[in-house]
Amino acid sequence: MSQSVFPVGRLRLRHLLGIEGLSAEEITLLLDLSESYVEQNRARGGKSSLLRGRTIINLFFENSTRTRTSFELAGKRLGGDVVNMSAEVSSIKKGETLMDTAVTMNAMLPDVLIVRHPDSGAVKLLSEKVDCAVINAGDGTHEHPTQALLDALAIRRHKKRLQGLLVAICGDILHSRVARSNIHLLATMGARVRVVGPPTLMPTAIARMGVEVFHDMRKGLEGVDIVMMLRLQTERMQGNFVPSVREYFRHYGLDYEKLSVAKPDALIMHPGPMNRGVEIDSEVADDVDRSLIREQVEMGVAVRMACLDLLTRNLVSNTGGAT
Ligand code: NCD
Repeated sequence: MSQSVFPVGRLRLRHLLGIEGLSAEEITLLLDLSESYVEQNRARGGKSSLLRGRTIINLFFENSTRTRTSFELAGKRLGGDVVNMSAEVSSIKKGETLMDTAVTMNAMLPDVLIVRHPDSGAVKLLSEKVDCAVINAGDGTHEHPTQALLDALAIRRHKKRLQGLLVAICGDILHSRVARSNIHLLATMGARVRVVGPPTLMPTAIARMGVEVFHDMRKGLEGVDIVMMLRLQTERMQGNFVPSVREYFRHYGLDYEKLSVAKPDALIMHPGPMNRGVEIDSEVADDVDRSLIREQVEMGVAVRMACLDLLTRNLVSNTGGAT
């Protein structure tokens, strides 16, 4: 099986379950490999045969459009066989049923299992029960590693570095696995992170993650290089966390007025799906000079190709097979 000649020798990951615990060197290698896939996708767009004969299962216990499609495209661009399985979460109970799913998956002999699950920790649990590599595509409010990697790649391409940047992550921090993975990654890479949002949407122990906490957007955005907006995740909320959508937008929605205190060349990001007029003004979201939102989607495919490439290389070496 031919593999691209990229020096990832020092990066030996069995699974990708989170950003927490990855070193700056490992993150850099993953980003460099992703960068090579950006170039490859742009240059020829065609398929490679790197994953020929490999089976990748997308196992999604939660709705997803862009992440699932992005993994599917990544797997197919590398020539792998990609199977999508969506599990109706309401009919699935935790514990034994998740274990049953693991046994079923294992029997299908996939090489990579990509899992999204509404419960924090469920993907790790599953990874302990299967023989293949597992990628966490988002578990509850815990981690979403490929999102943080694609965000970092988009930032690095524009700012040429991560170290020393001032990044504000704004909005519904409480329910956001994107925020958590980004905080781990950015802190590891030497960026300074602020979290900005209402007290009701701020985890109590968030400051322990080494971030600065702000409840006022105008203060939180002052002098930042990157403004990362998050969706108000109403599906994870029981009860009222914000008085009204209008009120929320007035205080925390990103518009040009609030953005004016950031650095003049500050860039805007959002993992999607966006709620226009709730956490972000439509014009700001579509601003071609400042918004990286479309590019984030493109980076997503490249990052997922890099992750699939890397984890399957390791499978080869894990089983002692040929290179
Ligand atoms: C995020 C997620 O699912 O955690 N979306 C994504 O992966 N593109 C954020 C969100 O749903 O708001």
